[in-house]
Amino acid sequence: MPHTDALARLWPASAVSVKAGDLELRWIDDEVLVHLAELAGRGIHDPEVMPFEHPWSRGTAEEVARRVLTYQWGIRSRVSPDAFALEFAVLHDGIPAGVQGLTANEWPVLGRVTTGSWLGRAHQGRGIGTRMRMLALHLAFEGLGAREATSGAFVDNGPSNAVSRRVGYEPDGAFHVAREGVAVLHNRFVMSRDRWESLRGDHATALGAPIEMRGVGGFSATISSTPRDN
Ligand SMILES: CC(C)(COP(=O)(O)OP(=O)(O)OC[C@H]1O[C@@H](n2cnc3c(N)ncnc32)[C@H](O)[C@@H]1OP(=O)(O)O)[C@@H](O)C(=O)NCCC(=O)NCCS
Repeated sequence: MPHTDALARLWPASAVSVKAGDLELRWIDDEVLVHLAELAGRGIHDPEVMPFEHPWSRGTAEEVARRVLTYQWGIRSRVSPDAFALEFAVLHDGIPAGVQGLTANEWPVLGRVTTGSWLGRAHQGRGIGTRMRMLALHLAFEGLGAREATSGAFVDNGPSNAVSRRVGYEPDGAFHVAREGVAVLHNRFVMSRDRWESLRGDHATALGAPIEMRGVGGFSATISSTPRDN
């Protein structure tokens, strides 16, 4: 049995992927991880700004790359019936461009996913961030039966806030978060299932190609069912 088939059987999260045209979200194996780590090391943002609550993206290329490795190695195992953290490689034309995360806590109670993401600088500002978020939402709502999706960004993160608005999330207030020793406002965004259903046609148009999901049935069997119909 090929290694990937055995892994998919033992760890179904590894077989989950979603794709539309030239853009794919898929499991971060060690080979892709090294590319992503090096990509992050080459820079995710200007040194004057900090999009993340924990400033993991500061430091030398090697320091940043190693943090990507250790973070991803640590988070891979976080799948249980009640909570999961799925981190996907974003592949554009097959090239690793960044990471799209999808996490859930108290999943059987809340049915809520939260997203987080980054792209290497060379891949930013070309619409990939918008499309990868749409793919993540498709996976969450259509694939996993989520009831709600949330996201957030510091008020000074123009592109991330623009992506959430463009994808159709509703603003859900703002709160202060400590960022490098300063209290900075952080916007919250929410997408209800009803809203996503009303927007899915727009998302399909924006994605511009049929959406293909894989491995969702096997993964869904390892987590609890959602409260969607409660
Ligand atoms: C946030 C991120 C994932 C978005 O991906 P992206 O591919 O760059 O985003 P897109 O090209 O799809 O869309 C960017 C949007 O931001 C807008 N934008 C760009 N710079 C902007 C700025 N300074 N102020 C306001 N809007 C801005 C663009 O006009 C575009 O909006 P539009 O499509 O409505 O015109 C990516 O920029 C990134 O990785 N940034 C650094 C890490 C980060 O911020 N991660 C998120 C933490 S919450």
